[in-house]
Amino acid sequence: MIHLTRKRSIPIFSLILIIFGFLTFKYYKSYSTNEYQPIIPEIVHNNGKGFAGSETCASCHPEIFRSHLETTHFKTSRPADSTTVKGNITIDNDFILNDEIRFSMVSKEKSIHQNTFLRPIDSLIESKSLDIAIGSGTKGQSYFNWQENQLYQLQVSYFEADGSWVNSPGYPNGVYAPNRPVRARCLECHFTYAENKVTFNKYNIYDKSNLIFGIDCERCHGPSIDHVNYHKKNPNENTGRDILSLSNATQRQNLYMCALCHSGTELEFGKNPFEFVTGDTLTNNTGKENQSLAIQDSLDVHGNQYGLLLSSPCFKRSTAMSCTTCHNPHKNQRNDIEWFKSKCIQCHGNANNIIECSVSMEKRNSGGNNCVSCHMPLIPSKTMSVFNQEDSLVVPVYIRTHLIGIYD
Ligand code: HEC
Ligand code: HEC
Ligand code: HEC
Ligand code: HEC
Ligand code: HEC
Ligand code: HEC
Ligand code: HEC
Repeated sequence: MIHLTRKRSIPIFSLILIIFGFLTFKYYKSYSTNEYQPIIPEIVHNNGKGFAGSETCASCHPEIFRSHLETTHFKTSRPADSTTVKGNITIDNDFILNDEIRFSMVSKEKSIHQNTFLRPIDSLIESKSLDIAIGSGTKGQSYFNWQENQLYQLQVSYFEADGSWVNSPGYPNGVYAPNRPVRARCLECHFTYAENKVTFNKYNIYDKSNLIFGIDCERCHGPSIDHVNYHKKNPNENTGRDILSLSNATQRQNLYMCALCHSGTELEFGKNPFEFVTGDTLTNNTGKENQSLAIQDSLDVHGNQYGLLLSSPCFKRSTAMSCTTCHNPHKNQRNDIEWFKSKCIQCHGNANNIIECSVSMEKRNSGGNNCVSCHMPLIPSKTMSVFNQEDSLVVPVYIRTHLIGIYD
């Protein structure tokens, strides 16, 4: 008996093992083929390509994803709440516009509101929620309010230099002017994507569900769902597919990727700038042939790094300079003096034929030999200034010039 049982138990045991093994294999096979589910885009670009969302990039480009979260690009537009709004909402939270109007910024239920009071009786005449915060807060922030599907800029903004509430740039100083509609151009420089639905007489209508906050991966790399789906399906592929390779981009393509938002009003767009994707040239986009690269020196420092850089001897007399010669687009590099200095020295070091600084090392060292502070000084903007009620001053915003040169 024992003998028999033993004899029979072996094939049964093996059979069970085989069946178990087979099932595991089948399960594993079906699991591994079903594991890949292409992502269906929720938001689609005008060119028909879908946005994947930057969270999807995290699994394959984790370092870029993490450092990008620290950039002011990423933070430049966000839903407004107590973590994103920088100004005070408990003390020093008033902005006195004139003898008749006082604003007070307060926390109300779960949101932050701009309350408007009539002076001197102090009666509340209006309360509007801050729905979207524009600006990382490096220099300041402005706030948008939704009324149904129409977007308005609030009259009160925040100014980082003295931590106060101020009259929004663009609003007349000292004049109560509620309801400034937000034009698409504003979102085009501060969002990854928005859908403007202009109807007769109304140009500030947007689709709230088709809004991608911040300047995200896909603002610069273009809508990338095909790339994500391809690589999820083909995990062993190590050449980037269905995405523009920037290593082959021309100088002009590289510059235009940034000029889209950093050229002030110099470049005219024939089309909606949201239609621009990297690799397009702005001239293709507008149909305007060869918009001149030569721009005069009288440009404002605000928002026009492109025009200023192009007017600099460094740019004019070198061959392949672009914004990424000095900037890593995935990192917050503000105040990284050593990094920027190393970029200057790449060209102005003694290994090159390019001229070096003619000022004595002693004089240079007295200020820490910071090439940038002497040759790219902070200059007050002529177009960006804020009206501060306390001392009734119009205070300019200081911005680092990209007209690299010799200053006093
Ligand atoms: C499933 C993996 C995967 C996901 C998800 C993914 N990528 Fe990639 N990506 C790759 C691989 C692999 C490469 C090629 C190797 C490399 O450059 O890292 C690549 C390369 C790239 C390149 C360089 C292309 C070149 O040739 O210069 C860019 C830009 C890029 N990815 C952007 C993105 C963006 C934006 C997202 C999110 C929307 C994203 N990727 C999501 C796998 C992925
Ligand atoms: C969609 C518009 C847009 C594009 C495209 C864009 N930028 Fe910006 N950039 C902005 C805005 C808006 C800010 C201000 C962000 C803030 O502080 O709220 C900014 C800020 C910056 C800053 C300041 C960072 C800091 O520390 O405050 C640098 C540097 C910069 N951009 C470089 C670039 C470069 C280089 C490119 C091209 C590779 C580029 N940008 C493309 C809109 C854009
Ligand atoms: C402001 C524009 C901008 C944004 C935003 C941006 N990139 Fe890039 N990215 C670039 C540029 C420009 C290059 C080419 C870099 C160079 O030439 O040094 C690049 C290169 C890359 C590369 C290939 C080279 C490398 O460094 O591995 C990958 C991958 C990539 N980006 C992924 C991403 C992801 C993921 C995000 C979002 C988390 C993102 N990028 C956000 C402009 C941007
Ligand atoms: C042509 C592109 C462009 C347009 C249009 C534009 N901005 Fe900006 N904005 C920028 C850039 C670039 C910066 C940062 C660099 C600079 O100041 O040169 C900036 C900076 C800002 C800042 C300061 C951010 C910070 O923390 O330092 C605020 C606030 C702001 N913009 C709000 C607005 C509002 C509101 C509108 C629309 C009414 C608007 N911008 C229209 C490109 C633009
Ligand atoms: C891609 C190379 C390159 C880089 C990077 C570069 N420069 Fe230059 N720079 C040049 C060239 C070329 C000239 C013109 C030299 C000549 O006239 O012979 C120049 C000229 C200058 C001049 C003389 C300006 C004048 O009005 O005569 C100064 C000052 C200068 N650079 C400072 C800097 C500083 C500071 C940095 C870093 C923030 C820098 N450069 C980065 C290539 C570069
Ligand atoms: C020669 C090097 C160099 C080049 C090329 C360059 N930048 Fe800069 N940029 C700098 C330095 C240095 C700073 C100051 C960084 C700091 O304050 O920590 C700066 C600051 C900025 C700022 C923030 C200005 C402020 O005061 O808030 C913006 C925006 C910017 N760069 C955009 C660009 C764009 C767009 C391009 C291409 C058109 C470009 N840069 C090309 C060196 C360069
Ligand atoms: C303390 C301020 C200061 C610092 C720091 C400084 N420079 Fe200069 N640099 C000057 C002045 C002033 C001149 C013009 C001198 C003259 O007219 O002879 C100059 C001239 C130059 C020139 C033009 C030289 C020529 O022959 O025409 C270049 C290039 C230059 N500097 C690059 C740099 C670089 C790169 C750094 C950082 C490693 C740097 N400078 C640091 C003040 C400075």
